Amino acid sequence: MSDQPLTLTRHLLTREETTTPPEDLALVMERIAVIAKRISRKLIHATLGGHLGYSGDTNVQGEQQKKLDDWTNQTFLEVFRHGYPVCSIVSEEMEKPTHYERNCRGRSYAVLCDPLDGSSNSDNNGLLGTIFSIRERARGHGFDASDLLAPGSRQVAAGYVLYGPATQLVFTAGAGVDIFTLDRELGEFILWREKVKMPRRGTTYAVNQGNASRWHPGMRKLVEHMTSRKDKASSYALRYCGCFAGDFHRILLEGGIYIYPGEVLPDGKVTNGKLRLMYELAPMAMVAEQAGGRASNGNVDILDLTPTDIHERQPIYIGSTEEVTLAERFKPES
Ligand code: AHG
Ligand code: MN
Ligand code: MN
Repeated sequence: MSDQPLTLTRHLLTREETTTPPEDLALVMERIAVIAKRISRKLIHATLGGHLGYSGDTNVQGEQQKKLDDWTNQTFLEVFRHGYPVCSIVSEEMEKPTHYERNCRGRSYAVLCDPLDGSSNSDNNGLLGTIFSIRERARGHGFDASDLLAPGSRQVAAGYVLYGPATQLVFTAGAGVDIFTLDRELGEFILWREKVKMPRRGTTYAVNQGNASRWHPGMRKLVEHMTSRKDKASSYALRYCGCFAGDFHRILLEGGIYIYPGEVLPDGKVTNGKLRLMYELAPMAMVAEQAGGRASNGNVDILDLTPTDIHERQPIYIGSTEEVTLAERFKPES
């Protein structure tokens, strides 16, 4: 193999073909790479430029929006305004999709995104991410998202960017998972690992233990088992960083499981947890399965779930095959 670094665009144009035309994928991913580079540069200087703190708005999730949540969302909108063949943006930060009629020429796509994942870490220099999902739009689709409300198995590509010591972009289009590292001098994402395989089992679990009093009994029994230290198979360490993309990336490389379970509130109301199906769970589930791992809502594979709303939440058990299967055996959502 030549010692020339393989850039994201070259890789997309020369890699194993999938159902989506390579030139379409290259056009979409070139735009996502520009967004990732702009966000990476912004985060490096955020503490120097007054970009931290809250925007003062509450987003559609009912959460206090950070200034960087809004800025990263605006970056998606600016970059895809002239981003043929992407005609629609669905975002955690917007109640409704944004549609660009001019980009709707023949085959067109929607990008569904969590522009800034882990934003509770934004003011303490913690790990942050961007999660994206790419779906093909139905010919003659309307301004609503009804044609997008389909199982995650219909995604044509998905991935995430992790803003850590290195900025890395993880991507799959259905033919394996590839990881790229941003070479800042070159201004290019360079292939670091191709066809990454997640270990069949790991040694860590990631969950917000502080919510234990609201877990279903099955979830409590699962964590008691995983921390009982009876033997190697029931001895896990807790690793939880507050950024789904950050916890998932560790699991992709080293194995383990990330859980955000449903909860039973003091008034008896049951929730589906915090994470959103279309732009957090479905893209990460595609990456997990393409790397040989699994993703479930405790009962059903994430990629088999048909959303009823673009902001629908679901419980998530994602990571190594052995841990996700173990979790399901405890019926953690009941
Ligand atoms: P976002 O910042 O996009 O809202 O996502 C945060 C998510 C996920 O990234 C993280 O693992 C989880 O919320 C943390 O939630 P808790 O603070 O409730 O544990
Ligand atoms: Mn998120
Ligand atoms: Mn977010």
